Amino acid sequence: MKKYKAKANANIALIKYWGKENEELIIPNTSSLSLSLEALYTETKVSFIDSDKDKFYLNDQEQAKDELEKISKYIDLFRDLAKNNKRVLVESYNHVPTAAGLASSASAYAALATALDALFETDLSKKDLSIMARRGSGSASRSIYGGIVEWEKGQDYESSFAKKIDNPGLDMAMIIVLVNKNKKSISSRQAMKTTMATSPLYESYINHSKEDLEAIKEAIKNKDFNKVGEITEHNAMQMHATIISSNPPIIYFEEDSIKAINKVRELRTKGIPAYFTMDAGPNVKILIQKSDADKVMEELLKDYKESDLIYSDIASEDASVEVLEC
Ligand code: ADP
Ligand code: DP6
Repeated sequence: MKKYKAKANANIALIKYWGKENEELIIPNTSSLSLSLEALYTETKVSFIDSDKDKFYLNDQEQAKDELEKISKYIDLFRDLAKNNKRVLVESYNHVPTAAGLASSASAYAALATALDALFETDLSKKDLSIMARRGSGSASRSIYGGIVEWEKGQDYESSFAKKIDNPGLDMAMIIVLVNKNKKSISSRQAMKTTMATSPLYESYINHSKEDLEAIKEAIKNKDFNKVGEITEHNAMQMHATIISSNPPIIYFEEDSIKAINKVRELRTKGIPAYFTMDAGPNVKILIQKSDADKVMEELLKDYKESDLIYSDIASEDASVEVLEC
């Protein structure tokens, strides 16, 4: 029997995806841009099983009905594509806290799509893998690639996929400040829907994020780290202002998120370029230059335990798969 094991890195968006034009097909309202992170990843093994149901283990724990149904529905996409109705055993390991705003769904579905493509012998191109990963979770479309990645919104099933952007030599890394590793109380998927339905600022976010995307691509080309950082911070705070203005309000910030943001500002007053971003959760990600990593760590360790900080280089590898003979 053959098992396939795929690995994909998580990614953190500098220009955020928030809201869908088409919920079923996961076509977003905006294009987005991210960095894939080497330190955060998912590894997923898949094999066929002789059963009338799929089986799903996450970090060695068999998953309950709702998670199994969700993943089975996703595997159906590959069963349809391959015209093969066999059931699948999925054994996945997250080297990233699950559902805490650290992009576990991105690395998860990029790894799963890559593994299922090998198992079902669908032989998808990178573009089609990105489309299939997108069907599991929008941000997963970007985790098919290492480096700097743009997910072009597109307008239909075929035209919404991610691609790698050239890095002309910008020196970048990220440090994550773990404010809270627990599962968030409201998923990105649900929060996006509420924001779109109720926030009076939503349209403004969509318009500004288009400008931010063009501006950040220009700053990347010009190797202008400070500009990249300024746009990153502003885009994330526009997204959060929009989320907070939902009705009822959705607040992902915790007291310690603000503390971490203030620490980043303090780094800047000390002459160290550092910029923050946050996703659908309280954890704060700090964009730094890799060449400043030791200095930044030294400063952060004055206020944080080593175990509260994750340093990550930008991943250089794309998602990949290997065969395990059992
Ligand atoms: P996050 O901020 O971690 O991406 P989301 O709410 O967007 O949080 O997504 C978390 C969801 O992604 C989980 O509830 C689960 O359904 C799915 N997920 C996370 N890790 C895996 C995995 N390794 N395999 C399959 N699904 C996963
Ligand atoms: C704030 O990709 O998790 O991290 O497509 O519904 O699965 P679904 O949402 P998801 O949302 C990610 C939101 C974000 C911003 C980003 O990664 O671009």
